[in-house]
Amino acid sequence: MPSPIRRIAICTGGGDAPGLNAVIRSVVIAASNRGWECYGIREGFNGILFPERYPEGGVFRLTRDRVRGIGHLGGTILGTTNKGNPLHFPMKMPDGTVKEVDRTDEILEFFARKELDALVSVGGDGSLTIANALHLKGLRVVGVPKTIDNDLDKTFTTFGFDTAVAFATECMDRLHSTAESHQRVMVVEVMGRYAGWIALHAGISGGAHAILIPEIPYDLEKVAAKIRERESHGRMYSLVMVAEGAQAADGQRSLQAPAEIGHAERLGGIGERVAKSLQGLTGKDSRVVVLGHLLRGGSPTSFDRLAAMRFGTAAVRALEEGQSGVMVALAFPNVNYVPLEEVAGRMKGVPMDSDTLQTGRDMGICFGD
Ligand code: F6P
Repeated sequence: MPSPIRRIAICTGGGDAPGLNAVIRSVVIAASNRGWECYGIREGFNGILFPERYPEGGVFRLTRDRVRGIGHLGGTILGTTNKGNPLHFPMKMPDGTVKEVDRTDEILEFFARKELDALVSVGGDGSLTIANALHLKGLRVVGVPKTIDNDLDKTFTTFGFDTAVAFATECMDRLHSTAESHQRVMVVEVMGRYAGWIALHAGISGGAHAILIPEIPYDLEKVAAKIRERESHGRMYSLVMVAEGAQAADGQRSLQAPAEIGHAERLGGIGERVAKSLQGLTGKDSRVVVLGHLLRGGSPTSFDRLAAMRFGTAAVRALEEGQSGVMVALAFPNVNYVPLEEVAGRMKGVPMDSDTLQTGRDMGICFGD
């Protein structure tokens, strides 16, 4: 039986998502109720790797008072980063070249030195892969699945996704009237990396006429045909929802910036390309709206708040039970625990047999195929 817990740390990594503060608050309250002390690590693991950057402390005590009133706030009071993964940390070598080095031992040493018994790591694929590596090196770790993209395997959903979908849906609602008034094609680009969850859910909910997702290579001729067909029925406007990672049948994707050491490639710009091409193909005035980081901001929906609190408290229960190397997951109607190694490095895209996808097809939505 592992030794009883007295002190735990919590960190948030990767892109922020609505609900992070609700997780932090719930972990701190559930842990404090068990008599444990909680500590927050700033900006992923930067608080440990670069303590000099934080005059007020790279790792600081999280009391119940410190987390009062934060459950409904977007962002994370710990800060976050999607650069400088400690497993592949970019280091300048004496000869001027940059190489990736593994700095996870420094994190383990820190935990031992500060007598921290366990870590709650809140993040997406990257953070959970780091969490798994720390667990394999002997640290007690429980992961909590976060991302607006909903692209993590083994959980029905991640927290943050519902808020992003709700906001994108509201934007679609607003765009219908202006698109119709001007008889335009409106292209709405949403985040999601290589998965089409946000585009699919918000597209269907928001009444899109075409939805382009990475899982289905698109042919814009098919979308143009859909727009023309609508016109033949007197519907003079169309809304097209495009996931940032969508790709044409020839495999082309739109990038803002290529991958570099310590940072993944940055997607974006596909909305502009699709709008231009559709204008050329249909002769209709077309406009693009990029929702981008707006999808990551704002207050979490009640679904995300509750999911965040269920995840946070379940993470504390897992540690109390002596579990490690697991991620808290949503498996309706309950939360359960899945091994981190079954999640790390795996992406969950929209399956082709998804009933949500079929719903879109039955509603007459064009998927560009
Ligand atoms: O993973 C969340 C996410 O918002 C993706 O949807 C998007 O591709 C990426 O992060 C953007 O990251 P950044 O914050 O570096 O712009």
